[in-house]
Amino acid sequence: MSTPVYIAFEGAEGCGKSTQARRLAGALDAVLTRETGGTRIGQRLRAILHDTDVTDLNDHAETLIVAADRAQHLAEVVRPALESGRHVVSDRSVYSTLAYQGYGRGLPVADVRSINVWAVADTWPDLVLLLTVPDNVTARRMSKRELDRFERAGDDFHRRVQNGFAEMAAADPDRWVIVDASGPIDKVSATIRRAVSERLGV
Ligand code: TMP
Repeated sequence: MSTPVYIAFEGAEGCGKSTQARRLAGALDAVLTRETGGTRIGQRLRAILHDTDVTDLNDHAETLIVAADRAQHLAEVVRPALESGRHVVSDRSVYSTLAYQGYGRGLPVADVRSINVWAVADTWPDLVLLLTVPDNVTARRMSKRELDRFERAGDDFHRRVQNGFAEMAAADPDRWVIVDASGPIDKVSATIRRAVSERLGV
């Protein structure tokens, strides 16, 4: 059995990462999970984060809530799965916090990172798959659903988030793979499967 790996999907809302995470987890027989909301406690935290009636959540408090979700998720789901020999595929990870709360909300990225070092300890994703799609594709997909609190944050916010992801990917190319997710679903899945095999040998 190969050493278990922890793979995270990142990207904009509507980029197709949930579908691709599910497909990759199936192919690897991995535990499929997500942040936020990958645990029962996390689901309660996620409800606060996404609630459009929550209009007064402070950016620092938001950052601590996503970090709390993560601490619970890593302790309850990710580490036990890895320790039992299973691969883990997660829809989002610590890098979403750096992108959304750091680059997006404009909090100092070094501060956001140090809070998360405590939540993550040594369980950082082995590989991050950053799914990219042109802005107009995301906008079209978004127009078909009711938007949550993050999705209503505005174009500039989302542009900063995407720039943040791109910057982190460029700075850490051994850990990140950028995948053009604008093509047919099967083609994107094949690209991802190939990248995971090349990078991690699984
Ligand atoms: P998703 O379930 O569609 O991926 O949406 C989750 C939303 O939560 C998305 O808008 C990004 C946001 N989010 C953060 O702002 N920080 C985080 O750390 C995580 C995991 C998600």
